[in-house]
This record gives sequence, structure tokens and C-alpha cells, in this order.
Amino acid sequence: MKKIQIAIDGPAGAGKSTVAKIVAEKLQFTYIDTGAMYRAVTYQAMQNNVALEDGAALTALATTMAITLQPSADGQLIFIDGKEVTQVVRTPEVTANVSQVAAHAGVREVMVELQQELARAGGVVMDGRDIATHVLPQAELKIYMSATVEERARRRFIDNEQRGIASTLEELQVAIAERDRQDSEREASPLIQAPDALFLDTTHLSIDEAADEILTLAHNKMV
Ligand code: DC
Repeated sequence: MKKIQIAIDGPAGAGKSTVAKIVAEKLQFTYIDTGAMYRAVTYQAMQNNVALEDGAALTALATTMAITLQPSADGQLIFIDGKEVTQVVRTPEVTANVSQVAAHAGVREVMVELQQELARAGGVVMDGRDIATHVLPQAELKIYMSATVEERARRRFIDNEQRGIASTLEELQVAIAERDRQDSEREASPLIQAPDALFLDTTHLSIDEAADEILTLAHNKMV
């Protein structure tokens, strides 16, 4: 079986990370959550009072941080300079600021280099916004996953409830639509579907159905 690279892109709440994790587990591939890496830079910037509009300072910060990923039974763990930050990078405060940080071209350059290094050996499922277009343009399988804003907000609402984070459906819809806008309209590698990516609408699909679709496509590429 070939150790292929699978790129999964799409907007927030499309189900990318949940599905990518299942696909990676079933194929015994490494799952790489690139959103967590942008979140780590955002978290570190907030901790160190680095201005979120200062691209040069954020790029310098990203260069000096050692970001490492580690698989675990509970999913991917993320560390900054050896300290685990898996949960703290998912707070609503970091979520609200991450698109602004991810828009800086310098920050992206540092992250993309790291992501390419992590994927070099193959046997990876990587999810993000620019994986098929910039990070792994040579990936054997490219998927663009999406769902309606209403459905994505509903999923985030349930997710927040489980994490004990208070939110309303209305505010989540507004926040998701705003993040879509920022991620799609930025100049540096915006969120777009790569011409050779397959579109997967998950609005009416369960997690397992979406994962099965990708697994079938992956098996076809691996023979
Ligand atoms: O998938 P996520 O919600 O954890 O991503 C957090 C943010 O990071 C998202 O708003 C856009 C940005 N991002 C990006 O610009 N490029 C990636 N490859 C992954 C995430």
C-alpha cells in the first residue's frame, strides 16, 4: 500500500478534523491539524502581548517557537516549547483572533515550512485551509469539505456544550460567517477549493459517512 498524502481543506465547522482523525486512524496514517498550529501562534502572541496586526513581530515569534505535535488516544496533542497547549488554544478568545494572525504572509511561511516537513515521509492526513493549494500541492488525494453556515454553527454549538463553553446559535453563525469571510478574502493563500480537489458537502452526512467516502477514495489512490 502506498503511503499517500491526503489534503483536506474547508471552512470552520465542516467536520474536517473529526473526519480527518478517523481517516488517519483507519489508514494508520499521521493526522496533522494545521489550524492548531495557527492557534498556537495566536495563543503565544496573546500571552506575550504581541499586537495581532504586527506581521513582522508575529513572524519573529513564530520563528522562535518550537511547535510540536504528538498523537495520543484522545487525538493530536500540541506543545509550545515543550508545554502542552492542546486545550488552551481552543478557547473562544483564541478562536476569535486566529484568522487575523493566520492572515500574515510571514506567519504562514513559517507554518507551511513546518507542515511540509511533517508530511515529507507521506502517510499523512493534513487538514487546514490551504493544504491542497499551497502546503501539499502534490498530495495524491485532495478533498474540499463544506456544509451550510447553519449546520456548521449547530455543530460548533454542540461542541461548545460538551466543552462547557456558553454560546448561542445566533452568535456562532455570525462568528463562523465572519471567519469564513476573513479566511476567504485574505491575500495570503486564501481559503479556496483547489481545481483538482473533490468537493464533499457534509451538510447531510454523518461523520462516519463522510469518513467512508474519503476512505474509499484513498483506497483507490493507494493500490
Ligand atoms: O481549523 P481551525 O478552526 O482550528 O483553524 C483556525 C484558523 O486558522 C482558521 O480561522 C484559519 C486558520 N488556518 C489557516 O489559515 N490555514 C490553515 N492551513 C489552517 C488554519
